[in-house]
Amino acid sequence: MAKVPTIRIDKLLSSMGYGSRKDIARIARAGGITLDTAALLDVTKRIPITPDLPLHMTIYGEALDPLAPMVILMNKPVGMTCSHSDGGALVYDLLPKRWRLRDPRISTVGRLDKQTSGLLLLTDDGDLLHHATSPKRRVKKTYRVRLARPLKGTEGDLFASGRMMLENEDKPLAPAELEVVSTTEALLSITEGRYHQVRRMFAATGNHVVELHRESLGGLKLPDNLASGEWRLLSEVESASVFQ
Ligand code: URA
Repeated sequence: MAKVPTIRIDKLLSSMGYGSRKDIARIARAGGITLDTAALLDVTKRIPITPDLPLHMTIYGEALDPLAPMVILMNKPVGMTCSHSDGGALVYDLLPKRWRLRDPRISTVGRLDKQTSGLLLLTDDGDLLHHATSPKRRVKKTYRVRLARPLKGTEGDLFASGRMMLENEDKPLAPAELEVVSTTEALLSITEGRYHQVRRMFAATGNHVVELHRESLGGLKLPDNLASGEWRLLSEVESASVFQ
């Protein structure tokens, strides 16, 4: 049987953003950490890293945060940036503050523009991050688009052609699918993630995107019950559906 890896408690908690190792020792001395309901005083103790550890440990009376790897599904609001360091409001501001200090770091899986809303994944899982954004995987991303001007009727063929060129680029766009909802609303599915791609595709047809909302990523859909600005953790099965 494979040996379960162990880790020092102070190292683990510090990597989860609860404070420096000194802080952790101080919290433990004050009786703020419990393991299986008993106060934990020796933070140098090694414990097995098992997925159910958060059920056995509390800090200041609260269950331990989820261990890495974690995958977060967020309904990104308009006006927040997918950056770790931009001056304004960041999508990370919606998560618990200490999660900013976690190691491995939580990052967004690809990016949505500041003015785009909808399905955004965040993770500390490097493999997921790599695979979900790799052009080779061609993960389909579907956006609901509201336009300033009526569609002409020729956009669908152009987007599907595999020959559409965007300004200042030398490689044509991969074929994309357009589903017209009304004269000024459509669903667009793309498999690439070029800079401002959807906005630039419509701009190239003489239109202007006034609202952009991502509804799905691969087989994962944004659930109706996740309001703007809300997030929740995904199970392994749910995160795997990105690749379906
Ligand atoms: N295309 C865009 O133009 N913006 C996004 O945020 C995503 C896709």
